[in-house]
Amino acid sequence: MIFVTGGAGYIGSHTCVELLNAGLDVTVFDNFSNSQPEALSRVQSIAGKQLRVVEGDIRDGVALQQALADSGAKAVIHFAGLKAVGESEAEPLRYYDNNVVGTMRLLEAMKATGVKQMVFSSSATVYGVPQFLPYTEQHPLSATNTYGQTKLAVESMLRDVHRSDPEWRFAILRYFNPVGAHPSGRIGEDPQGVPNNLMPFVAQVAVGRREFLNVWGNDYPTPDGTGVRDYIHVVDLALGHVKAVQFLEREAGCNAINLGSGVGHSVLDLVRAFERVSNRPVPFKVGPRRSGDIAESWANPALAKNLLGWSAMSDLNKLCADTWNWQTRNPNGYTG
Ligand code: NAD
Ligand code: WQD
Repeated sequence: MIFVTGGAGYIGSHTCVELLNAGLDVTVFDNFSNSQPEALSRVQSIAGKQLRVVEGDIRDGVALQQALADSGAKAVIHFAGLKAVGESEAEPLRYYDNNVVGTMRLLEAMKATGVKQMVFSSSATVYGVPQFLPYTEQHPLSATNTYGQTKLAVESMLRDVHRSDPEWRFAILRYFNPVGAHPSGRIGEDPQGVPNNLMPFVAQVAVGRREFLNVWGNDYPTPDGTGVRDYIHVVDLALGHVKAVQFLEREAGCNAINLGSGVGHSVLDLVRAFERVSNRPVPFKVGPRRSGDIAESWANPALAKNLLGWSAMSDLNKLCADTWNWQTRNPNGYTG
């Protein structure tokens, strides 16, 4: 049994499908602050298997410990958290409370119930401004915003807890840029309001929900002047979590591991690929740089291959095709 916090969210829902496909039992613990129960109905229908759902907040230590004990889980995958960079700058205390205090409550509940394996959702944002590329796990850590600080704080907390008692096992997964959707088109990313991230914005322009894309800067020192990122298919990412859970079963330690493809694509590469697969125009206007953005980011994914036996399989066309499939089948997300 795997206990999945935030399992109804974008990455969590795709991971639940792959956990069920791998024959593992799943309990989801989610307060649905940024997701819908409908996502979990669809997860079960895709996998053809049931999972358990407990509605609750990770900051509610009593409810959390009860749910964890009831689940009989041996390991936790911890997705629950807030992830909007701009919002984290406006409401830092809410971000520290949800992401850092919430994780502390979770570790306390795990300690009380003797569950000592956790896969944690970290982010490539912990590398800050690149001092070299591709980023390896040894790259110095820094944060340029509050969201990134909360990920750094949790990473430190996990290392400290592991040092105090090496029976704890942690896989700290540093995701690059997750995009795409399940190939069934039944689950995908459902951002509330105006999307912050590039891929959902492009998809909403292509489907006609928004008029044009703002390209945040075309004067970066990159091949076409626009920002370069390592986009990773959410199903590849989900499979990485199954591998990480299996890894923790056999190996002790506290390891930070990049989950990226190792390939960078520019904003315009992504726009052109999306136009090709959707056969729709994606009009754009070039605007100023977005504050806090870096020019380029991509992973060295060698450690994931060595430790987990995992690597990304999907190319840019597949990322766009699966996003488009989800967008056209669910033009208004889960609520439409
Ligand atoms: P998401 O918002 O879709 O999913 C997060 C889930 O956690 C939601 O279902 C939400 O309702 C739940 N949740 C939030 N706070 C909670 C709380 N206090 N108690 C219980 N449930 C709570 O986000 P996602 O894109 O699936 O991201 C999952 C994790 O991966 C997050 O920790 C995020 O920071 C991290 N991450 C995401 C990205 C990305 O670009 N999507 C990149 C790197 C890391
Ligand atoms: C990608 C590229 C933009 C929107 C963010 C978080 C990071 C992680 C993933 C959680 C950049 C450009 C974007 C738009 C644009 N999240 N862009 N027009 O910034 O790499 O990472 O999400 O951990 O922490 O910071 O992703 O998708 O926002 O941007 O031109 O409307 O697209 O400038 O070059 P980013 P993104």
